[in-house]
Amino acid sequence: MRLFLVPFLLLFLRLGLCLHAGIPRGMVVSQERLASEAGAQVLREGGSAVDAAVATAFALAVVHPAAGNLGGGGFLLSRSASGRSSFIDFREMAPAAAHPRMWLGEDGRYDGARHHGSLASVGVPGTVAGLREAWKREGRLPWARLLKPAIRLARDGFVLSENQAASLAAHLDEFKRHAPTLAQFSREGEALRKGDRLAQPDLAKTLARLAKDWTDFYRGRTARLMVLDMKAHGGLLTATDLRGYRPAIRETLKGSYRGVEILAAPPPSSGGQVLLEALNILEGYDLGGMGASSPAEVHLVAEALRRAFADRAQFLGDPDFNGGIPLSRLLSKDYAAQLRGTIDRERASASAPDRFAWPKDRPDTTHLSVIDRKGRAVSLTYTLEDSYGLKRIVPGAGFLLNNEMGDFNAGPGLTDATGLIGTAPNLAQPRKRPLSSMCPVILVKEGAVFMVSGSPGGRTIPATVLHTLLQVVDFGADAQAAVDAPRVHHQWLPDRIQVESSLPAATKAALQAMGHALKEVKKQGCAQVILVRNGRAEGAADARWPDSGAVAE
Ligand code: GLY
Repeated sequence: MRLFLVPFLLLFLRLGLCLHAGIPRGMVVSQERLASEAGAQVLREGGSAVDAAVATAFALAVVHPAAGNLGGGGFLLSRSASGRSSFIDFREMAPAAAHPRMWLGEDGRYDGARHHGSLASVGVPGTVAGLREAWKREGRLPWARLLKPAIRLARDGFVLSENQAASLAAHLDEFKRHAPTLAQFSREGEALRKGDRLAQPDLAKTLARLAKDWTDFYRGRTARLMVLDMKAHGGLLTATDLRGYRPAIRETLKGSYRGVEILAAPPPSSGGQVLLEALNILEGYDLGGMGASSPAEVHLVAEALRRAFADRAQFLGDPDFNGGIPLSRLLSKDYAAQLRGTIDRERASASAPDRFAWPKDRPDTTHLSVIDRKGRAVSLTYTLEDSYGLKRIVPGAGFLLNNEMGDFNAGPGLTDATGLIGTAPNLAQPRKRPLSSMCPVILVKEGAVFMVSGSPGGRTIPATVLHTLLQVVDFGADAQAAVDAPRVHHQWLPDRIQVESSLPAATKAALQAMGHALKEVKKQGCAQVILVRNGRAEGAADARWPDSGAVAE
């Protein structure tokens, strides 16, 4: 062939792939059907997957206040129709006043209440800047259009489902500690009920300001309201911290599993490292032949996670402060083969002594998955850390503050058997981002998006995502079956497998006979999955949160 024809041939091939990647209708899946509907409507109006994700995320900040947010942070992974992936890290940053010993009292003792429940635990929020950055790069519709549904839902209110009312009622006592929070999420101090309408007028006004000028959050009236609250009550966050916030554009972490390409979250998330390291180990076994939820399969999944989490504890932190994270070694197939060599297929291994015992899990976060007609996909996970974050509404601004600084380690050398960690990579420092487990993923097969997945759940997140993926790739599940299947989790320490109660009793008994300690939970995570099969998008919302919804364009 004439050499000058080569570029044209490549262009045709690429166009071919783009056409191949197209689907008749896009799809949005999130933890609240109302928010998914907001995103799907944006797709119907010709918006891109990023437009729909931005609209869904703003709507979640209204209808899912436990984790949807303006005052938190997260990660947005996207893939364009031409196959370019991008990763926006809008994780919160520590204020300038942060330092490694900030969670110790004057007596030098660790102060857990300050670490997880004080104004000092508020990181500089990244959500508004992160969503704006995504829109700037890949948005098609006007910015103000994307905030419209959220403004309407906040201003006019929405009717509470049984689940939403129960979640608010469960936190009523905590809301009572802060009058603006109680005023927003109760009826004069009494719990709201199913069927009540929840309007959030201050939040509506804040959203309307952001629709006109997003920088209001960092340098306008919204910023002033945050700083006023901080100054009045001993918080650390300043006007300079807010003005200095920037999302980071990071290189997507890439791996492969049985011929499927996996796009995942790089540090400061550990989600991608844990997921890809575990998958590399599992690739050496015939899981499909063992059967889903069989003792042999669950044993190997737990052993793989145990090893991936041990590496997480040792190496992971904010890459801007930890130059030497050995990701290429940890994620190599050779290293996985070495780790497989340490797994006994009949017996549980023992995790090393409690050098890196884990603190209590703080499970609230939320995930949304989107695909549009052109095959562009977004996988977005964001969080306030705890359910309803610090449970503290910014007076006059109507949104909740995060307590994300709780994701930093307790203090230098403070590693002990009670669950504290004091390793260096994740100690608090000015402008550092705390280590996360959030794990938005996009899977690619034959050049086109094949699956989008993610979940809340603290350190269980990569395990939940791993399960959705194994169900599809190894066991041939459809999207809903992949979401519904029982899940397990292992995080090295404490040395036990967390199992959902739906795991078959015979499997639980066999695992115990192999030497595993089990901890049973009713449910783990809340995955929102899209699978592209036979040229169509299949959306699966997770009924573990009954309001979750998959809405087609
Ligand atoms: N705050 C939960 C996480 O980032 O993993």
